[in-house]
Amino acid sequence: MRIVLNGAKGRMGRIVDKAAADSGHDVVARVDFGYAEGEGLRALNEYQGPADVVVDFSNHAATAQVTEYCVKRGLPVVVATTGQTKEEQAMIDEAAKAVPVFLSANMSLGVALLADLAKKAAAVFPDADIEIAEKHHNQKLDVPSGTALLLARRIKEARPEAEFVIGRHENGKRTQKEIGIHSLRLGNEVGIHEIIIATGSETVTLKHEAENRSLFAQGALAAAAFIVGKAPGMYDMRSIIE
Ligand SMILES: NC(=O)c1ccc[n+]([C@@H]2O[C@H](COP(=O)([O-])OP(=O)(O)OC[C@H]3O[C@@H](n4cnc5c(N)ncnc54)[C@H](O)[C@@H]3O)[C@@H](O)[C@H]2O)c1
Repeated sequence: MRIVLNGAKGRMGRIVDKAAADSGHDVVARVDFGYAEGEGLRALNEYQGPADVVVDFSNHAATAQVTEYCVKRGLPVVVATTGQTKEEQAMIDEAAKAVPVFLSANMSLGVALLADLAKKAAAVFPDADIEIAEKHHNQKLDVPSGTALLLARRIKEARPEAEFVIGRHENGKRTQKEIGIHSLRLGNEVGIHEIIIATGSETVTLKHEAENRSLFAQGALAAAAFIVGKAPGMYDMRSIIE
């Protein structure tokens, strides 16, 4: 695949770059914000050469630029970036009408499985208290993590009345509708997500630990291979595992 890589200078961008080369793909453009001459980086619109897919691991503020570029060029895009605002999410939804868009806050198969299990647990224990705890490195920008929100949204599919409470900080009892979401930021932690389901007489804990970031890079490359040649629309990890 010929890949345009957005966020190429970042932690994930560099790992995707290497993983792509190791798997025989060609990164035809390395794009980053604040790129410097001599670093082999460029601005997105500067590259109009051949490409099969755009892989985005940058910042949600790049959403308008990335979606516009992909729609104009008819290129599929893997949006791995997290933290989009409602307006940015709407831009992604709009782009999916014109090109294939693979959007996932977490590119690991394990988290896709975790989300399915969380939804199932919420249905099996409709009255249980559910809380999500996530732990990430101290440089992470978005709070809570996109993955924690992905998990909470999947639980809400089984409990439409659920209300997300992010970082509970006021006195008072929790309500049964609440799904508490709690964020820890420590050291180099790659990413831990835990869903705790407590009925009062038993507690089920579902937990995923990412051992290293190459997991997300491999997932993003698998996602890219999956959407090249697909019809316009929105795809996610469920599209791969189902
Ligand atoms: N989906 C997943 O599985 C997954 C996994 C890990 C990280 N992420 C997300 O990927 C994103 C990047 O993570 P990271 O740890 O590599 O962050 P990072 O801060 O190390 O790298 C981000 C890079 O994007 C660049 N950038 C910022 N704004 C830009 C713009 N407008 N255009 C082009 N480049 C821009 C920055 O200069 C930086 O080099 C974050 O949103 C993170 O939450 C997703």
